[in-house]
Amino acid sequence: MNALIEMQDIVREYVIGGDRMRALNGVSMDIFHGEFVAIMGPSGSGKSTTMNLIGCLDKATSGTYQLDGHDVSRLSDDELAEFRNVKIGFVFQNFNLLPRATALENVELPLLYAGISRKERRQRAEHALERVGLGNRMANRPNELSGGQQQRVSIARAVVNGPALILADEPTGALDSHTTDEILQLFEELNAQGNTIVIVTHEPDVGRRAKRVIRFKDGQIEADDGRRSAGRPVMSMSGPGDEVARGEEQDRCP
Ligand SMILES: Nc1ncnc2c1ncn2[C@@H]1O[C@H](COP(=O)(O)OP(=O)(O)OP(=O)(O)O)[C@@H](O)[C@H]1O
Ligand SMILES: [Mg+2]
Repeated sequence: MNALIEMQDIVREYVIGGDRMRALNGVSMDIFHGEFVAIMGPSGSGKSTTMNLIGCLDKATSGTYQLDGHDVSRLSDDELAEFRNVKIGFVFQNFNLLPRATALENVELPLLYAGISRKERRQRAEHALERVGLGNRMANRPNELSGGQQQRVSIARAVVNGPALILADEPTGALDSHTTDEILQLFEELNAQGNTIVIVTHEPDVGRRAKRVIRFKDGQIEADDGRRSAGRPVMSMSGPGDEVARGEEQDRCP
């Protein structure tokens, strides 16, 4: 089976004031359909840069990236936007909901971009909100919802198009521990239903509940446990650290 995400020797450089700075320095990884992966590592190690590349929000300086068998670097910006809308659901730390739109309207948005009819938009958005346990909050605006409920709305928005991949960059960073637990349960349910999930987190508890942890350091993969992804060829990586056991997260930033 082909990997859903195939990155080979990815470099992402930024030029700041004439100086080149490597945010990613040779990242290679394969992530397969149905995996639940946590990306961890210190602040500045390249986690969000990697997520932006996986999510086709950014392009690598060099290296190759294939998403679901498509070479992302060959797509035009328009193709990329469409590809992104269909293949990927995004969940952000601060929810990124439209403040004046209801929960239902927020969830309908990706369907609007996908050109789905009004009636079907409504049905699918309602179904997605029911799926995240918010069937009774569809008419509420974000400021009438708790943080956990807002994150549920954004998860409903992420899944409403039926994407192959859900990307979440610190989705529980703004939530208390009880709400974090609820949101993680939701991700686990989505994963059990077949969604591939990649989540960036600083929280050891969150990392422990993923099936695989990829640890970044200084723009490179330092370790990848591939744990509980039994039977799958989970990863090709170079460099030391393959055998590093998953320990307590030491690198939580202040
Ligand atoms: N747009 C940009 N321009 C210049 N440098 C950038 C840009 N985005 C990120 N960087 C640099 O790239 C490196 C990796 O940043 P990145 O945001 O990927 O880190 P991170 O692992 O997500 O950190 P955090 O845990 O704090 O979110 C950092 O040194 C950062 O300063
Ligand atoms: Mg980040």
